[in-house]
Amino acid sequence: MSNSLLTVAYIAASVLFIFSLGGLSNQETARQGNIYGICGMLIAFIATALNYQFTGYFTLIGAIAPAVMIGAVLASRVAMTSMPELVAILHSFVGLAAVLVGIANYLAPDPNIVGVEETIHQIEIYVGVFIGAVTFTGSIVAFGKLRAIISSKPLMLPARHLLNISLLVATVLLGIQFMQAPDLQGLQPLLIMSAIAGLLGLHLVAAIGGADMPVVISMLNSYSGWAAAAAGFMLSNDLLIVVGALVGSSGAILSFIMCKAMNRSFFSVILGGFGEGSSKTATKAETPTGTVTATTAEEVADLLMDAQSVIIAPGYGMAVAQAQHAVSDITKLLRSRKIKVRFGIHPVAGRLPGHMNVLLAEANVPYDIVLEMDEINEDFPETDVVLVIGANDTVNPSALEDPSCAIAGMPVLEVWKAHNVIVMKRSMASGYAGVENPLFFKENTQMLFGDAKKNVDAILTHLREKESSTYSEKILVKAS
Ligand code: TAP
Repeated sequence: MSNSLLTVAYIAASVLFIFSLGGLSNQETARQGNIYGICGMLIAFIATALNYQFTGYFTLIGAIAPAVMIGAVLASRVAMTSMPELVAILHSFVGLAAVLVGIANYLAPDPNIVGVEETIHQIEIYVGVFIGAVTFTGSIVAFGKLRAIISSKPLMLPARHLLNISLLVATVLLGIQFMQAPDLQGLQPLLIMSAIAGLLGLHLVAAIGGADMPVVISMLNSYSGWAAAAAGFMLSNDLLIVVGALVGSSGAILSFIMCKAMNRSFFSVILGGFGEGSSKTATKAETPTGTVTATTAEEVADLLMDAQSVIIAPGYGMAVAQAQHAVSDITKLLRSRKIKVRFGIHPVAGRLPGHMNVLLAEANVPYDIVLEMDEINEDFPETDVVLVIGANDTVNPSALEDPSCAIAGMPVLEVWKAHNVIVMKRSMASGYAGVENPLFFKENTQMLFGDAKKNVDAILTHLREKESSTYSEKILVKAS
């Protein structure tokens, strides 16, 4: 493939990636956005492989074939609830790739790059390896936290900020040594810096508590983009630079949006909780006390039949139970009885940005009744019944009432303001952030214990029975 054809292919791929991002910003166009992305990636891959400078087809096929198979099998088997872990581990691969590309690039310098260009190239390598190493280890810790292999509690070392600063200073000093080293003697400072950057990534993410994990995921997404862009600079590959910058900047915007949604300082979170008092890290909040009222699926069905307006607040438990289809059926049934049903979606509900929206779209819940937290929060006082299905942190009043808890300050769905609240979960256990939830003890709250899918199915069965008996009664009345 000639150079000009390669450029055209790269431009086409870049445009498709931009369309893809545009499509992904809206549920109705998300599928199309995905297709644009797949087409862009195919063009990028084929064009790069057919590049006239490229000859190592044997190595390429040897690496790509098993990778494609492993990737396809893993991605098709992964449960929706494990998706964030998969994303985190994939970010770590991007980071590792940037480190390896950087080291390989340093060991096999291009003889045509000399003078100022050589200096710039060395800076690219050093920065690229640094970002890659931070992304690599940070993503592994994020994977461990999301998979619950590592405790989601923040690691609070006594002089943690001093440690981060010392690691950064060491990185800069080693960078000076690297730039001044003749021939390939910069390899030693480069490798030492990789280890230090790895330690920094590990510590930065370990210091972030469970409640702030949504920001970490989008932040690592952003880092992986910058790592890819850095690899693009090292390899003088324009497409990799463009794609890396797109991923890096969109990840940074997403992190910013997440921070706003959680009322967190962006810089504080990305710097491993810098400036946060230790109070927010511990879950020393008083244990809520009071009476817990349990209910049954039949009673909930009765309550729903008598309601005029219902809001459903789904959370991670709905994803675990895979209850979305039954929830969708309940919604259809209630709407057919002219009951106003809407969904209130918290920005960090579940374990992925947009997790709940994806599940509800999969179950064909109409988009226009799925509302963001800000759009629905004022409507709770006029709502007859709220069904909290497997949500916990995102409906926890402590976030607003207890400044010492781990989620203090995070806006939540104010479900307790509704007339009746039904909380569906299996036990009294706390949510992901480990904060006790006083909602369960409120006077207008009733707990429907058990697996969300089983309970939603049971409610649906009772609703159908009640509906058919009402229908038979109507026929009898008409007949008489
Ligand atoms: P969580 O606070 O995680 O609570 C989910 C609840 O679901 C649990 O308390 C659990 O209680 C219940 N549950 C689990 N399996 C269930 C099942 N089969 N049936 C019924 N209930 C079940 O959920 P949330 O309100 O969605 O909040 C999300 C949390 O995850 C936030 O803290 C957020 O910061 C964090 N997080 C979010 C993301 C993103 S990007 N969204 C990423 C990482 C972390 P039982 O065990 O008693 O059943």
